[in-house]
Amino acid sequence: MKILLLGADGQLGYELHRACAPLGEILPYTYSGQLPGAQRCGKIDFAVAGALAELIAEQRPQLVLNAVAHTAVDRAEDEPALAQRVNAEAVSELAQACRSADARLVHYSTDYVFGGDSQRPWREDDATHPLAVYGRSKLAGEEAVRNSGCRHMILRTAWVYAARGQNFLRTALKLAKEREELRIVHDQIGSPTPARWLATSTALALAKKHEGNGTWHVVSDGECSWFQFAAAIYSEALAAKVIERAPRLLGIPSSDYPTKAKRPAYSRLDCSKFANDFGLRLPDWRVGLREVIGEMAEARTL
Ligand SMILES: NC(=O)c1ccc[n+]([C@@H]2O[C@H](COP(=O)([O-])OP(=O)(O)OC[C@H]3O[C@@H](n4cnc5c(N)ncnc54)[C@H](OP(=O)(O)O)[C@@H]3O)[C@@H](O)[C@H]2O)c1
Repeated sequence: MKILLLGADGQLGYELHRACAPLGEILPYTYSGQLPGAQRCGKIDFAVAGALAELIAEQRPQLVLNAVAHTAVDRAEDEPALAQRVNAEAVSELAQACRSADARLVHYSTDYVFGGDSQRPWREDDATHPLAVYGRSKLAGEEAVRNSGCRHMILRTAWVYAARGQNFLRTALKLAKEREELRIVHDQIGSPTPARWLATSTALALAKKHEGNGTWHVVSDGECSWFQFAAAIYSEALAAKVIERAPRLLGIPSSDYPTKAKRPAYSRLDCSKFANDFGLRLPDWRVGLREVIGEMAEARTL
């Protein structure tokens, strides 16, 4: 099977490259035309109209994995046209090209399509109500995939992190060296999800040959606040000797930490549909954190 991987140098794209290798021949594409480690690959810019249609027509893949997104949630407030272009308009072109080429499209979306005011984990068919530009553009991308008529799988995830890339874990570890005290919000709840687990789940779900179209939620089990996540990061990182000291943590309400983009207060996603359809359920977020910190500790000792 010929598999086009878009965004092969992002947190998720990097892991998809490894996890989906057993499924077929992977053709990786990035914005820079390079993979992590400086190896060359195909080049694609989602901001260029027509580029994706041309690429799909040229490569004729059977499967497309789209790990590209404008993920800078606050920056999206300042550049809404670019966020809309990358997360929605380009995705629409991609989905229509997949439909013409009869390629299956795996696309990723976010908990930020929801408003955050639920008393229970969000289900796939709950009403969406994005609070900011990023969530609105991702929702428009989802709708474009559904409306295109292409064979598709939309996986909504949340709080993604990895041993590489830009994420809360890496920022927290960097700040451990620079700060005595950190103020972290305690009233936003979600499920930290390792990019590797998401990529492995994607590969396993694809291997099940479930050909139905749909939207599924895929996040780690359990939930925590950003404050609890930070506390767990420092506890695991100290134990694994990834850091020598941890800052004091002070839990604060979101109202004391204003950001350009409003974030949902409650982001936990209900993954029962993914479990029922594919027989797959991610373990608790603390297990994932220990694995990722272990990976970082190992990399330092090599
Ligand atoms: N990160 C999260 O917490 C989170 C939460 C919920 C859902 N998601 C979703 O999960 C998916 C993967 O996210 P991630 O965490 O892996 O994001 P990421 O690490 O920020 O990766 C995004 C990728 O998109 C590429 N990209 C951005 N603009 C582009 C453009 N104009 N043309 C081509 N490539 C472009 C980036 O390339 P450069 O590095 O060269 O810019 C990068 O490879 C996305 O659909 C995202 O919306 C993420």
